[in-house]
Amino acid sequence: MAMATTFQPFLTRNFGEPLALDVRWCLERGAYEGARKALAMPPKAVIEEVKLSGLRGRGGAGFPCGMKWSFVPQDTGKPVYVVCNADESEPGTFKDRALIDRDPHQLLAGIIIACWAVQAHTAFIYIRGEMVHGHAVLEKAVADAERAGVLGDTVLGAAFPLRVLLMRGAGAYICGEETGLLTSLEGNRGYPRLKPPFPAVVGAFGCPTVVNNVETLGNLPHIMVNGARWHASMGTEKSPGAKVFSLSGHVKRPGNYEVPLGTPLMDLLDGPGGGVGGTGRLKAVIPGGSSAPILTAEDCKTAKLDYESIAQHGSMLGSGAVIVLDDSVCMVDAIWNLMRFYHHESGGQCTPCREGTGWVEKTVARIEHGRGRMRDLDVLLETCDNMQGKTICVLADAAAMPLRSYLKKFRAEFEAHITQGKCPFG
Ligand SMILES: Cc1cc2nc3c(=O)[nH]c(=O)nc-3n(C[C@H](O)[C@H](O)[C@H](O)COP(=O)(O)O)c2cc1C
Repeated sequence: MAMATTFQPFLTRNFGEPLALDVRWCLERGAYEGARKALAMPPKAVIEEVKLSGLRGRGGAGFPCGMKWSFVPQDTGKPVYVVCNADESEPGTFKDRALIDRDPHQLLAGIIIACWAVQAHTAFIYIRGEMVHGHAVLEKAVADAERAGVLGDTVLGAAFPLRVLLMRGAGAYICGEETGLLTSLEGNRGYPRLKPPFPAVVGAFGCPTVVNNVETLGNLPHIMVNGARWHASMGTEKSPGAKVFSLSGHVKRPGNYEVPLGTPLMDLLDGPGGGVGGTGRLKAVIPGGSSAPILTAEDCKTAKLDYESIAQHGSMLGSGAVIVLDDSVCMVDAIWNLMRFYHHESGGQCTPCREGTGWVEKTVARIEHGRGRMRDLDVLLETCDNMQGKTICVLADAAAMPLRSYLKKFRAEFEAHITQGKCPFG
């Protein structure tokens, strides 16, 4: 396993380099060499290489990228699409916008590789509406790439026409969920769809579609240039490679940090993060965006930043948004904040989510304001039971999972609010 000390960041290597926005500079520096190499290989060989690399999707679910591509049928007579998920709506996550703003050609190179692998001649980048700057950066990068012969009727000299189209979302969390995104891309309200069929088989406009996250795609040029084995040699056996973590909250140096998967959580926090901020005393960490169950300070001592270790600690790596909470934080107030978000962002299509997120938000608010009853705690857990696994997409689960974990790991704080009739944190 590569150690953090010898690790050379590659996804973020151009951060701080303004010339990375210049297609000529990127071409001279070899940003498109991975794409060139892929175009010289049979598409199936590209899929095999990505499978061998062990790259897992960085959008949240951690699904193996090459395997997803291999599900795309090539015999339907319909076009195949690649959709880049640049919605980045999970609270605490701010890595994709940085990868777009600072190195758009790395993303375009990744899109070319994905499109060649699944034989797609049209790619969409669905970018969150609020990312006005990122949209402008991408518009310029795509136009520059077309003028430079990187995209268009031929790609880097290969007889492979490819158009990259930009689509702006309207800032709805649900449109980050891949099927909600596809419905929105088609011009409709972003209601998610039942799976199966999965987008790889029935996706955008009823056609086979690969949906990949910005960071997932950004890894591809490096895998093609350096080889699958190079990628697989970093991180852990089941979670190979490196990941950009968005570190925020009570930490001295918040920011995006790229480290090998499997890095101890406390190494990220105490190393690049500079240590716990605020009171300086760690209370809890959200390890993978707001949907991820909470880790206590005790959990953090042994947790490593890979999919398996975080799962063993009862949570998930998700989008890699690490939110640090010091001991001044009221956990009831913290989860109320999150429940407000999920209630507001519920797509409203399924009753358990539309109603459930509202009920739990109101109940937690009552407890926070000192008007809770002990039996509310069981009612909250029962409501979670009725939300999880009962809806078309997993937004309801994304709300229920953290709530359940706060109730389990910080139950005494909920009880203190109820017995004291007020928030003990003032
Ligand atoms: C409610 C919800 C919101 C999501 N938001 C995002 C998002 O903003 N960006 C993203 O890449 N994936 C998001 N996802 C995950 C996507 O559905 C999908 O798994 C991902 O885009 C696939 O890409 P990957 O395999 O490259 O990770 C979200 C999922 C859910 C359930």
